[in-house]
Amino acid sequence: MMLKKANILIVDDDYDMLELIQRQLQEQNFHSYKAASVVEAIDILKFNAIDLLITDLQMPGIGGMELIKYVEEHFPKVPKLVITGYPSIDGALKVMKSGALDYIVKPFTVEELKHSVEKSLPKRTQNSESKTPPTNKPTVYAGIVGNSEKIEKLIDLIERVKNNRATVLIQGESGTGKELVARAIHYKGSFAANPFIAVNCGAIPEELLEAELFGYKKGAFTGANENREGFFQAAAGGTIFLDEIGTAPLTVQTRLLRVLQEKEVRRIGEQKARKIEVRIVAATNGDLQQMVKKGSFRKDLYYRLNVVNIETPPLREHKSDISLLAKNFLRKYAGEYAKPKIEFTNKALEMLERYNWPGNVRELENVVQRAIIMSENKIDIEQLPDFLKYPSPKLTSTSKSLQQVEKEHILKIMASVDNNKTKAAEILQIDRKTLRKKLK
Ligand SMILES: Nc1ncnc2c1ncn2[C@@H]1O[C@H](COP(=O)(O)OP(=O)(O)OP(=O)(O)O)[C@@H](O)[C@H]1O
Ligand SMILES: [Mg+2]
Repeated sequence: MMLKKANILIVDDDYDMLELIQRQLQEQNFHSYKAASVVEAIDILKFNAIDLLITDLQMPGIGGMELIKYVEEHFPKVPKLVITGYPSIDGALKVMKSGALDYIVKPFTVEELKHSVEKSLPKRTQNSESKTPPTNKPTVYAGIVGNSEKIEKLIDLIERVKNNRATVLIQGESGTGKELVARAIHYKGSFAANPFIAVNCGAIPEELLEAELFGYKKGAFTGANENREGFFQAAAGGTIFLDEIGTAPLTVQTRLLRVLQEKEVRRIGEQKARKIEVRIVAATNGDLQQMVKKGSFRKDLYYRLNVVNIETPPLREHKSDISLLAKNFLRKYAGEYAKPKIEFTNKALEMLERYNWPGNVRELENVVQRAIIMSENKIDIEQLPDFLKYPSPKLTSTSKSLQQVEKEHILKIMASVDNNKTKAAEILQIDRKTLRKKLK
């Protein structure tokens, strides 16, 4: 299912509440932005077409009522939904009762939230799923190949965020295309002419990362022989991609938080900070939330980064794209290896589709590349690596007898070699006679 049209902005200083509401809205296929303060919220409002504001009232610094007034003045068409602990104490009860605002009282159920959101949203945006023409479905978008629902949803998200500067956190298993998504956001967006700087936080030694990212002043530390700009400055006006953000040491995390909060960068050894406009896209294949719980990743930074959350799906969850992806890689490498006519047999494609791809798209790409090298004009199952033919059996809860397992295994191997007994016997490392006996 595609995302619904509405973009919802959630504002609450309570991170857990932000997360909870976002999750519930996500389940209903709404797209949402999160802000932990009014200042952040206004920033998001300026650059995004928001269809509904959901805000807490009691927040340190500028409160929710101020935000509501601001929205009424600057974005009068945006409906507002207030989340409140104590409607009477908040003093906003009068306003709410006047009918100008809808509100929802904490704690609320999923159903209550859903009901309030649907009531608040203008009819136009309510249930209309964003329409993509059924014919002519795009299969490549900025290098992202696929036309499954999962990939469509991914592209839909990129489309929504590409023209603003909201911070994006991309999470997904290794090889699922996180970097590809980061690049797509940049190169499809309005700031594409400005730099895209990719920084692999895991590949730069900890003691250097801070200096590389933020720059330094001459004499700031031994070895700092000259003034130096950091990656942030280099990315000014464009996008900085912080890959493997989970590996960033706490010192760097603290500085990053400042950049996000103040929108300024201070070089090491310098007092004066400089304003900077840069979109931050971060990626991780680790569980940041778990790291937050263990204390190795700053909670406040996690939420600042996670304004928009994009998850790249594992390949096993969009297997319908395998054949498309495989053919795409075939074309990509066929020229390189001077085999322009090379094709897959149907059997080979089926085998690719059956496999579970723990290494995701990257693994598929490697397998195709290797198969091209191994083949002349056709890639058949023989040219595919053995691990595709005999995938490690999944543990099942049903207890089977050894005999049963043996039988199933033999039949599977037989099927994989088109019932060729000689080949099957070879793979099973038994002689043909034994195999024939067992088959009986
Ligand atoms: N949907 C896709 N369409 C086409 N190519 C893809 C797709 N997803 C991934 N790839 C390709 O797979 C390879 C791995 O992608 P990428 O480097 O973006 O993954 P990653 O999620 O950053 O992995 P890691 O966590 O290991 O860094 C790249 O060559 C990329 O072009
Ligand atoms: Mg990567």
